[in-house]
Amino acid sequence: MSFLSETLSRVKPSPTIAMTAKAAELKAAGRDVIGLSAGEPDFDTPQNIKDAAVAAIAAGKTKYTAPDGIAELKQAVCAKMKRDHGLDYTPAQVSVGTGGKQTLYNALMATLNDGDEVVIPAPYWVSYPDMVLLAGGTPVIAETSLQTNFKLTADQLEAAITPNTKWFIFNSPSNPTGAGYSREELKALTDVLLRHPHVWVMTDDMYEHLAYDGFEFCTPAQVEPQLYDRTLTCNGVSKAYAMTGWRIGYAAGPEKLIAAMRKVQSQSTSNPCSVSQWAAVEALNGTQDFLAPNNEMFVRRRDLVVSMLNEIDGISCPTPEGAFYVYPSIAGLIGKTTPAGKVIETDEDFATALLEEADVAVVFGAAFGLSPNFRVSYATSDAALEEACRRIQTFCAALA
Ligand SMILES: Cc1ncc(COP(=O)(O)O)c(C=O)c1O
Repeated sequence: MSFLSETLSRVKPSPTIAMTAKAAELKAAGRDVIGLSAGEPDFDTPQNIKDAAVAAIAAGKTKYTAPDGIAELKQAVCAKMKRDHGLDYTPAQVSVGTGGKQTLYNALMATLNDGDEVVIPAPYWVSYPDMVLLAGGTPVIAETSLQTNFKLTADQLEAAITPNTKWFIFNSPSNPTGAGYSREELKALTDVLLRHPHVWVMTDDMYEHLAYDGFEFCTPAQVEPQLYDRTLTCNGVSKAYAMTGWRIGYAAGPEKLIAAMRKVQSQSTSNPCSVSQWAAVEALNGTQDFLAPNNEMFVRRRDLVVSMLNEIDGISCPTPEGAFYVYPSIAGLIGKTTPAGKVIETDEDFATALLEEADVAVVFGAAFGLSPNFRVSYATSDAALEEACRRIQTFCAALA
């Protein structure tokens, strides 16, 4: 009898966390590594949010809370859904969890049975397939392509749906590509879903506020109100508010589903951190003024990275609508040899050689289900980005 669970043997640890750890290890050994692998903003949590947390501690708001969130935060989520998307939710339709990740996980744990399929467009955020596997479901990967800037088409969605499909996971702007779906592009997908009433939508709107060049963010229940009763709209404060360490995510959806998620959470983490919840109330209800200047900075960095990468022979990098990632193709570099004599057969070979020979840490595309590519996170200083891109240019120019 195996001591470890068979379910666990089907999943892999997060490759993005592994890459970040490897880069940190080399750095600690004295190497001048530039890390472009971490998925978090490089700026601090805004002061008003920190102050709200300090005030919560001083007021003794340090005890257990309701399993899926304090009333004040649920109310703030309802107000945000109305303000930003025109969607009506009551607090009983809101679930707060320990990060966006736990909210998604709770929903999958609460709904998946053996044989249930979950359609996931690739490239995908690394955790979706593994969370589905942990919850006992079967991920069905729907591949996109560089030609559509990594956006799933209606035909591709239609082809992935079977009678066993329970969920379609949608993520815009996307990790790892930064691709954001326009209202029309999203409508094409929701039209497909209208034809398949057994399929529910789990939309991960984590990068909603990180959208550039006038891109209008839309969420499925807003674009197609007929999907309201089978949509779980997931979001969180981690990225836009630079609160990755506070661990607060939330979801809004049908009350029956929210109650089932509450049951999962009450038997796992009990409740999200009380102090972080009060900080999140301030994040959602307080000033949003810092978002625009932060986005200006992200646009500048995105443009710098895209232009420097596109100068490289063999690399092709679309300009994404949002998030803080780009996902260049290295199709033109496959088969070449590095100065240290390594043949680049895969994008993992490329990322490994780039780290070992040029001291730049990126995440290889296979981790996100679409190759040959790599992901750059540009949530780091302009100077570090410029130097990293210069190193990538030099490394690629030396390939034979
Ligand atoms: C698309 C996407 N969804 C969810 C999450 C999880 O966010 P959190 O840190 O709040 O768990 C991430 C974090 O990287 C993400 O990129």
